[in-house]
Amino acid sequence: MELLKEKIRQEGKLLSEEVLKVDSFLNHQIDPVLMYEIGKEFVSRFSDHNITKIVTIESSGIAPAAMAGLILGVPVVFARKRKSLTLTDHLYSAKVYSFTKKETNDISVSKDFISNEDTVLLIDDFLANGQAALGLIDIAQQSGATIAGVGIVIEKSFQTGADLIRQAGVRVESLAEVQSLQNGKVQFVGEETI
Ligand code: G4P
Repeated sequence: MELLKEKIRQEGKLLSEEVLKVDSFLNHQIDPVLMYEIGKEFVSRFSDHNITKIVTIESSGIAPAAMAGLILGVPVVFARKRKSLTLTDHLYSAKVYSFTKKETNDISVSKDFISNEDTVLLIDDFLANGQAALGLIDIAQQSGATIAGVGIVIEKSFQTGADLIRQAGVRVESLAEVQSLQNGKVQFVGEETI
């Protein structure tokens, strides 16, 4: 998605050769016009499915997921990372290990909101090692829902996540695929090296 790649080129900051900071439009401040275009792109790429629900994970997945849900006119469910006061049992949950933070979190979704009658599109902001997305897949599978696929805003293709998800038999559509963050430059998949 060229518009997204251009935004990353203009506003993305390289924190290291592994981490791309996009706080100005995705992870802290949100660009709703860009998020709306991202939502449209997800809807178009998964138009071969009759999606009944969008499922994401708090917090940065919510903005792109909400836009896709708005365009499709379907509910958006976000997995919680912390147990809420009102969300006590009656839950699907999965363990998500973060290689970046070196910690495991339980993520959970109420059984009220996903069922075996749903076709779900799973959306997240970043795909790095794939653990968050695999956790969402696990939760969707527990519910018996059909998984249309995983929609990712920014995939870091030099990490293992995309391959792991495809190996699990789930389709991945990433709107910007980053090949490398080396030499102070964001290199996208399929782009000529200068
Ligand atoms: P994984 O789920 O793909 O295995 O990712 P990992 O554990 O490596 O990442 C942990 C957190 O860091 C996730 O956000 C993920 O989206 C984010 N992340 C990973 N790589 C990058 C990167 O290059 N840039 C940025 N900006 N974020 C990255 P989170 O902790 O769940 O945060 P949030 O959704 O609450 O914002």
